[in-house]
Amino acid sequence: SIHPVILCGGSGTRLWPLSRTAYPKQLLALVEESTLLQATAQRCASLQGAGIAAAAPILVSNEEHRFLVRQQLQAIGCTPAATYLEPQGRNTAPAIALAALHLAHGDSSTPANPQAVMLVLPADHVVRDCVAFAGAVARALPAAHAGWLVTFGIVPSGPETGYGYIQTGTPLTQFTGVQQVQRFVEKPDSATAQRFIDTGGFCWNSGMFMFTAERYLQELQTHRPDILDAATAAWQQRSQDQDFCRPQAQSFIACPSDSIDYAVMQPTTRAAVVPVDMGWSDVGSWDSLWAISDRDAQGNAVRGDVYHHSTRNSYLRSESRLLAVIGMEGVVVVETADAVLVMRKDQAQSIKQASEYFAQHQ
Ligand code: GDD
Ligand code: MG
Repeated sequence: SIHPVILCGGSGTRLWPLSRTAYPKQLLALVEESTLLQATAQRCASLQGAGIAAAAPILVSNEEHRFLVRQQLQAIGCTPAATYLEPQGRNTAPAIALAALHLAHGDSSTPANPQAVMLVLPADHVVRDCVAFAGAVARALPAAHAGWLVTFGIVPSGPETGYGYIQTGTPLTQFTGVQQVQRFVEKPDSATAQRFIDTGGFCWNSGMFMFTAERYLQELQTHRPDILDAATAAWQQRSQDQDFCRPQAQSFIACPSDSIDYAVMQPTTRAAVVPVDMGWSDVGSWDSLWAISDRDAQGNAVRGDVYHHSTRNSYLRSESRLLAVIGMEGVVVVETADAVLVMRKDQAQSIKQASEYFAQHQ
């Protein structure tokens, strides 16, 4: 069966003031009633319904968010196979290493299984089409079993610089719907991204991955032995209580910080891609959140206690107080208990500076 691994230790500062370090994006209900983490866990559960055997997910999160994570999963009846808590985030390469070590070496309740297929899922995405998601996972499975590092490719809609770019290569004829990756470029600069879009033949990396535990550990050994060594030391001296598993803090903090994209996917020669159209969005910013939300006839996405008049194409959200917006066009207005954001929707990428400003001046 497939072993889902849910990564939920990031912060997502471009959704300030809703998203904070104490309450990051994946733990918020942004589009639907459920939070992005809950929706991710539900997506794993839906694989069963599509006839794909999936084990309970392994969670890798941050010490700070353990109660929120546990409570949100309990609320939807999801019991993780294991929940790893990092003392400090070291980005995704070490986080995935903890889950790979867990599966490859086993523990008191899980037998060692180096050939276990991991389905790595970011917890900060929206996927609208669960059937297409399950179909892509089914296509990826035999290739992952055979030792490929499988990515999931999204048709790009513009030269965004916040994504990985995958140049698709020749089809792997022994598998259906799987192509070799010619080149993987993580977060290119805007000129390079524009060139990729003009050339064609590139997908965005969705941030989901599938491979065996052993393959991932071997790739780390080849490309980043420093990360593998530190993560292994931290994992071997882990401590376990009823709900949580903690890698040894000192060794984990000493681990170099890097993402799987730079550490493994860019240098590897064994990457494959399954192109998929699944209503994917990484809801990384207010304008992308507006774009995937339900909107009224004037193009407004509205949440909470909001009055609006003569206002168009705007994202209006109140969390705790009354909000009135009159005569505005293309704006984002977000009210929370302790902060208010008012900005032009096309400035959504500049929000990071605001959150950094308050992080320093408070
Ligand atoms: N446990 C843990 N620890 N999780 C983490 C950590 C960490 O230190 N850092 C990030 N995560 C989680 C985030 O919560 C998110 O769910 C996922 O890992 C991906 O991390 P991001 O920081 O959001 O990555 P990104 O958006 O910049 O880039 C990735 O996703 C893009 C698609 O949205 C890359 O894979 C890109 O290539 C890809 O295009
Ligand atoms: Mg992200």
